[in-house]
Amino acid sequence: MAKILVVDDEQSMCDFMEIMLTKEGYSVDKAGSGHEALGKTGSESYDLIIADLMMPEMSGLELLSEVKKTCPNQEFIVMTAFASVDSAIDAMKQGALDYITKPFKVDEIKMVIEKSVNRRKLRTENEFLKKQLKQDFSFDDFIGRSEEIIKLKELAKRISLTDSTILIRGESGTGKDLIAKAIHAASERSTGPFVTINCAALPESLLESELFGYKKGAFTGAVKDKDGLFKVADGGTFFLDEIGNTSPGIQVKLLRVLEDKQITPVGGIKPIGADVRLIAATNANLEEEVKNGRFRSDLFYRLNVIPIQIPPLRERIDDIPLLANYFVAKYCQRAGTETKAISPEAMRVLQDYEWAGNVRELENCIERAVLLARNDTIALSDFPSRIIENRKETIISRDKPETPTLESIEKAYIYYIMSQTQGQKAKAAKILGIDSSTLYRKLKRYRLDDTDAQA
Ligand SMILES: Nc1ncnc2c1ncn2[C@@H]1O[C@H](COP(=O)(O)OP(=O)(O)OP(=O)(O)O)[C@@H](O)[C@H]1O
Ligand SMILES: [Mg+2]
Repeated sequence: MAKILVVDDEQSMCDFMEIMLTKEGYSVDKAGSGHEALGKTGSESYDLIIADLMMPEMSGLELLSEVKKTCPNQEFIVMTAFASVDSAIDAMKQGALDYITKPFKVDEIKMVIEKSVNRRKLRTENEFLKKQLKQDFSFDDFIGRSEEIIKLKELAKRISLTDSTILIRGESGTGKDLIAKAIHAASERSTGPFVTINCAALPESLLESELFGYKKGAFTGAVKDKDGLFKVADGGTFFLDEIGNTSPGIQVKLLRVLEDKQITPVGGIKPIGADVRLIAATNANLEEEVKNGRFRSDLFYRLNVIPIQIPPLRERIDDIPLLANYFVAKYCQRAGTETKAISPEAMRVLQDYEWAGNVRELENCIERAVLLARNDTIALSDFPSRIIENRKETIISRDKPETPTLESIEKAYIYYIMSQTQGQKAKAAKILGIDSSTLYRKLKRYRLDDTDAQA
């Protein structure tokens, strides 16, 4: 229930407003003067204050400026007689939200009040969302304590304070998006927009008009001027993902943005200014692309002023337990369950795995395991087969003595055939030239007979 303070030196006006607003479902407080109102706002907070402009001692305008000193976001509406609309306009310049002229129609005042109460609600929600956004993408959320990551975060933090172009490089799933967002959030442009586009997702002509906008009549269907994303990003950061996938035509235009801070809409003649910071990302080998003539060398050097290289996950296995536990906590929280632990054996296997999909693959794997785990510990069997199979290979190869015993060769060979046949025992037995019951026995003996082999 929204709380409203009505301030008027005319008692009858206060009473009238009280009756009307209470009927509308608001909770109402009254004050007969500006001083009384200030006394109340000192100890209570109101969603809205409605004050008469003309009051003896302290006018509504003075009250407004006093209130704004301690509570700059206070929603405030002034009431005034027809004769003094000018001062109502003054009040709005000082931060009043709206004004009501007396005598007013009940419907009108209801609407004005509803509008301002809703606006306040919206604003609180926006502030909350903004805060959340910012929090989501701070450097603290880029998990990792390996030497490489500590260095990388230091570099990224330092350059986020500058306005220079950044090229983020790394395999898919290493966190390029995350770093880009963290850089924006830590930069002076953080209150500006963060606009992102995936250059690989759109065909050239569409990408061009998305990026730079177009003029009416530039092509069939261009019925009016349209701003491009560079314009949308004005004052903020523009994140160009998968920049290695851009055509030569787009590359020339991007170079222009970097060199002159200017863009030309499709079909336009006059370039317009673009105040954006560019962050580009790629998982391609751009040097190679330059050599092959697929990527302009001048653009490459322009972009590559400050490269940030995120190492693949397999090269920083010390970060794996940290990340794994972080994701366990995240997904347990999301599922509303107590945080689970990862068994030591399972953790070892995570550290042994290749992670071609890097952190994204690890995150998916943990999300799945959290859902599958039957008790408060995540076990090996909660992981997908590809991860478990990898363990078998490493165990077998690690166990291998200098001269392998017949038994270890048999074990490795059976494992190999089992994986080749995707765990189909009948098929495997046939290839191995033994009957199924012998295979069952051997699987049991070598402890290859758990769900892992076929999962
Ligand atoms: N160091 C990290 N700490 C926490 N989460 C991470 C980290 N690195 C990556 N992630 C998470 O992994 C997922 C993939 O990260 P992101 O999208 O940033 O990768 P990317 O390098 O942009 O991948 P692609 O090249 O496929 O676009 C995201 O959910 C991200 O939050
Ligand atoms: Mg990405």
